[in-house]
Amino acid sequence: EKGGFDHFMLKEIHEQPKAYRDTMRGRIDEAGQSVVFPGLNLTEEKIRSLNNVHIVACGTAYHAGLVGGTVIEQLVRIPVANDVASEYRYSSPLVTPETLVIVVSQSGETADTLAALREAKSKGAHVLAITNVVGSSIARDADDVIATLAGPEIAVASTKAYTSQLIAFYLFGLYLAQVRGTKNSDEVAHVIAALQSLPEQVESMLANVDAIKAYAEEIASHQNLFFIGRGMDYAVVQEGSLKLKEISYIHSEAYAAGELKHGTLALIEEGIPVIALATQEAVLEKTVSNIKEVKARGAAVMAITHEEHVTDLLRSVDQALSIPKTLPLLTPALSVVPLQLLAYYTSLARGNDVDKPRNLAKSVTVE
Ligand code: M6R
Repeated sequence: EKGGFDHFMLKEIHEQPKAYRDTMRGRIDEAGQSVVFPGLNLTEEKIRSLNNVHIVACGTAYHAGLVGGTVIEQLVRIPVANDVASEYRYSSPLVTPETLVIVVSQSGETADTLAALREAKSKGAHVLAITNVVGSSIARDADDVIATLAGPEIAVASTKAYTSQLIAFYLFGLYLAQVRGTKNSDEVAHVIAALQSLPEQVESMLANVDAIKAYAEEIASHQNLFFIGRGMDYAVVQEGSLKLKEISYIHSEAYAAGELKHGTLALIEEGIPVIALATQEAVLEKTVSNIKEVKARGAAVMAITHEEHVTDLLRSVDQALSIPKTLPLLTPALSVVPLQLLAYYTSLARGNDVDKPRNLAKSVTVE
């Protein structure tokens, strides 16, 4: 049942190229020029009338929503607010009929997410669910469903569901941009081509895990560590940090790199591992200066970046790992993979139950 893998989590990490392809299938026209969403109840007229978007979810799905929010803001130039469902449902959210609320849930059964959906609906919002289970409660109650086609996810630590949620957001963001005319057809086709290259790029990363495995063995003896990044990288390190905590039980924090000096830098001491995700060209220099700040306080920094920056970065970090190149907006669909593997191999090195971490359930159906 684990298809030759030691754990469901590793199997599911390896199923990601297929999950990307399956989630894209039927949603891109044959010429690769535009995105189609057959059967959506959200009309083009309604899309044009939208004033804002709320994205609501829990845990890893919330992290996918953070990426999705940036994607929608960048492609559509419409304001997006992200919230965790357990807060949103009690926050008397500012929802109008011109608000699109997107709820994200692998299982479609998370109690808080379902309650948030109902709260938003009762206030007149159109609610779209991105879910991996089409027969779920969330899918049933939503006005629209975009199914992620990741296949069943067994490991408590979510991997392929998260990345399929990213693919769903990329496609939906492009669709909104087409309808609202914020991206022209060449721009849309350019992003589609990059999307279609992602599965192979993930395959190439999965064929070469030795460095990340060795690094996992190094950090396995630590009690604390930090992840830093800016922009899209910040969204992804939040997911990387959650993944690591969940199955390795090592305390870690994900920080917006520029925010360190406002308090957290006090915790940086000799030898503490800091994992810096540095893929976003527009802020690369800024991230490098944050890396120097932690280095100066004795941190051991591992950078994850694009090949072309490795040599440069190696002047300021202890180790560097490269990931394939894609558009900045699409990078999360690649950069999260080494972080998933890092969590997996660290958990393994510590002898933990990878697929069934303590205190956690796959589906949180109680508040
Ligand atoms: O089924 P859902 O996507 O609604 O679940 C939400 C969270 O409980 C879930 O993502 C959780 O954070 C994962 N165990 C993380 O790996």
